[in-house]
Amino acid sequence: MDLILFGAPGAGKGTQGALLAARYGLQRLSTGDLLRDALGRGTPLGFEAKKFMDAGELVPDDVILGLVREVMESSDAAGFIFDGFPRTVAQADGLAALMERLGRSLDAVVVLDVDDETLVQRLAGRLSCPSCQAVYSQFAEPPQVPGKCDACGASLVQREDDRPDTVRRRLAVYREQTAPLIRHYRALPAPVHVIDGARPVDAVQMELRTLLEQ
Ligand code: AP5
Repeated sequence: MDLILFGAPGAGKGTQGALLAARYGLQRLSTGDLLRDALGRGTPLGFEAKKFMDAGELVPDDVILGLVREVMESSDAAGFIFDGFPRTVAQADGLAALMERLGRSLDAVVVLDVDDETLVQRLAGRLSCPSCQAVYSQFAEPPQVPGKCDACGASLVQREDDRPDTVRRRLAVYREQTAPLIRHYRALPAPVHVIDGARPVDAVQMELRTLLEQ
């Protein structure tokens, strides 16, 4: 199964994608995580990407497509959950060409629909692990020990790009450059499902599972 999880910053793509990946034995491919990992390892690509990420802008398509190609070509996963990718028509076209070459096809596109006020609140309360990339919420999903990652014990941080002015820019970029892709996918064979992502994590996850098991 190959699935695109689509949605604005804070819509819950990472949260839901991780749960689906664990449930169905799929590989979650988050371009945001790949970029943060490159930055954490101090690679030139990571430093280059940081300029765009801190400004809330998209990292250039060729960089993103190169990262995705590397992961997909070296993986033996039964399926991928694409999280935060593609974000432009060029990326969607690049993914289609790559999938064709690898003999894969897209099964579904799921859009997590969440209002802006909820998105801003969620991002203000998000805590991230800089070491293993686990995600928590000060409100909805707090860590067991305040400020510490349940999975690896590292100190949790607020992401640089979760500051209010950067969040506003990320939301605008999503509306301008990424949301139009929903129409692009509606013209293609894989079904596009829009679900209400503003409900509690478990309710959203149950609907996703029901959809995917149909
Ligand atoms: P990326 O890391 O992909 O960020 P994003 O798409 O903006 O998405 P987020 O990670 O902010 O949110 P999410 O939807 O995963 O929500 P989460 O589950 O964490 O990208 C960062 C940057 O990298 C981009 O701005 C860009 O610069 C660059 N980039 C990445 N991919 C790129 C690409 N393809 N092309 C070009 N540039 C790219 O949840 C958020 C919070 O809400 C958490 O605290 C969580 O616990 C909580 N939460 C989740 N679900 C619920 C719920 N149902 N109820 C209550 N709280 C919830």
